[in-house]
Amino acid sequence: MKGIILAGGFGTRLFPITKVVSKQLLPIYDKPMIYYPLSVLMMANIREILVISTPKDISNYKILLGDGSHLGISLNYKIQDQPRGLADAFIVGESFIADSDVSLILGDNVFCGEQLNKILNGISIENNALIFAYPVSNPSDFGVVAFDSANNVHSIEEKPMYPMSNYAVPGLYFYNNKVVKIAKDIEASARGELEITDINRIYLDQKKLKVKLLNNEVKWFDTGSCGGLIEASNYIHNYQKDNGKYVGCIEEVAYDKGYINDYDLIALADKLKSTDYGKYLLSLLSRDIG
Ligand code: TTP
Repeated sequence: MKGIILAGGFGTRLFPITKVVSKQLLPIYDKPMIYYPLSVLMMANIREILVISTPKDISNYKILLGDGSHLGISLNYKIQDQPRGLADAFIVGESFIADSDVSLILGDNVFCGEQLNKILNGISIENNALIFAYPVSNPSDFGVVAFDSANNVHSIEEKPMYPMSNYAVPGLYFYNNKVVKIAKDIEASARGELEITDINRIYLDQKKLKVKLLNNEVKWFDTGSCGGLIEASNYIHNYQKDNGKYVGCIEEVAYDKGYINDYDLIALADKLKSTDYGKYLLSLLSRDIG
């Protein structure tokens, strides 16, 4: 399985903050936003990852994350010249995906929770598509999935005016390789975008869409609005303080997965030694001994 992080877009809901700065480089408490989706793909055991961003911003992601070798992963970069919609990720990423299955995560989505690692570590799609459902109070702002009385998926709609459930589809998706062809075949929606919901509906029609409910086990934030940005930052701040465990810590995931060793971790921590982040990385060494 390969992974794609979509880190382009206009970011209009965050103007004027994002007029010059790329949204996914903004801080969520103590680290750049893109660390969180990157850590999610890594927790799902994905080591070959493509970052897609705008012509203006792509170089900053390369500076921030490099080729991934310091984390024992491979990071690749591709420009999306226009924000044509989420499903465009599979067209822009076609040569990167090649004949693999692929996961897509939105660069402004933050996931947090005790069970997250376990859920992601255990993911297997068995030639299907897998998406998630998360209860929200404002479903009309998202793709919405509804279930019938036997808990089978009944419908999936993009930003419906009259939602059939309060289950939003978070921006983390897993597909078999057929997604590339499906993405190339769909047409732009009325709002002019290639919709991920149209891809999901095709999998649903083919009875190949699996939906996993995320209830209290995981917290999900869409940080594309000012409210979401501060809410996620506050939550992560409190979570890290209360649990003594960082969220979105890409070095920790690499270390826990065995992609980097003690010496690699010390070298990474050394570059951050004046920060709590650097001290946290060093504390992971004694955690293993004690
Ligand atoms: P959105 O939040 O839907 O779009 P946006 O980032 O342009 O923001 P706004 O609505 O405020 O103008 O996008 C979700 C994520 O996907 C976000 O990380 C940006 C990214 N994205 C792309 O990289 N390319 C695209 O074509 C689109 C639509 C989004």
